[in-house]
Amino acid sequence: MSGPNTQYDPVEVNALDPDTIEQAVTDALAAISGAGSLEELKAIRPQHQGDKSPLALANREIGALPPTAKAEAGKRVGQARGRVGQAMKQRQTELEAQRDARILREEAVDVTMVPARRPLGRRHPVELMAQRIADVFVGMGWEIADGPEVEAEWFNFDALNFDADHPARQMQDTFYIDPPEDGLVLRTHTSPVQARALLERGVPLYVGCPGKVFRTDELDATHMPAFHQIEGLAVDEGLTMAHLRGTLDRLASELFGAGITTRLRPSYFPFTEPSAEMDLRCFVCDGTNPECRTCSGTGWIEWGGCGMVNRSVLSACGIDPDRYTGYAFGMGIDRALMFRTGVSDMRDMFEGDVRFNAQFGLEV
Ligand code: DAH
Repeated sequence: MSGPNTQYDPVEVNALDPDTIEQAVTDALAAISGAGSLEELKAIRPQHQGDKSPLALANREIGALPPTAKAEAGKRVGQARGRVGQAMKQRQTELEAQRDARILREEAVDVTMVPARRPLGRRHPVELMAQRIADVFVGMGWEIADGPEVEAEWFNFDALNFDADHPARQMQDTFYIDPPEDGLVLRTHTSPVQARALLERGVPLYVGCPGKVFRTDELDATHMPAFHQIEGLAVDEGLTMAHLRGTLDRLASELFGAGITTRLRPSYFPFTEPSAEMDLRCFVCDGTNPECRTCSGTGWIEWGGCGMVNRSVLSACGIDPDRYTGYAFGMGIDRALMFRTGVSDMRDMFEGDVRFNAQFGLEV
């Protein structure tokens, strides 16, 4: 069909028939306006504008016409191709504009939108406080020890020189694990770790033990059935009450600020002799406000118990009390946190409201 054709052959040039050309244009325009996307437009392009499209074929046939017919056919085919090309270009422009508008809409970024922030988790303030205290011990060269929360009555009481009829052993103070004859309790203090550490590690010994303890206390602003203590125990040759005093002062100033005043008051614990209660000078009123709510106007805040390890505790753990002496102390971690943060109700610490952790649990 292609190539110069000197013999005019009407059958061969059907493609140049005005109706055929008009039909090709109509078909092309319908396909172009029916293309709903740039991809569709691209897909129909070969059919109407490609080398094998009716109009391209018609164009090629022009060469075969006698010179007189060439000009007229050329004009007609040229115009037809021009119309199709024009429509194609216009549709292309329209579809590109639609695509651009869609992208702008779909990929729009609202820089003023408040992002949905996922709240970060935080370590519990009591846990942080326990670690802070443990750090002070480690800074003094002490070891950190721990013991079980379900403890043998022997470690919790007997090894610590509690008499069989000591009131602390009563059911109303201590949680016993069933059956009671198994002799297991929820430890009422961290002091049983003293006996465990002495038996396991021997002397000389310098250990701190933070942990959870349990008592059948009523739940109120300053009492919880489960709370936290830190125990300290040092056993070595030649230790005296002066070492105890120095250690407690160091602990107090690390936790509550340099220059804090402490005092020891005589007290009684079965496992220490002599025993003392340690108080901190009230850091809110410094003893100047009889109405002070932190110290109830006394000028002092009770912080914990302490003393020189009772000879019978050393003996129960196989340590020679004539050669070794020791001192021990125990304080409430939750109480220390209350002093540091001003939280006046312990229940706030354990109700699990994340806002509490967010406020006091930021230190990492
Ligand atoms: N275990 C005591 C209590 O829970 C506190 C205590 C007092 C611990 C004197 C000690 C100590 O190590 O020497 O009340």
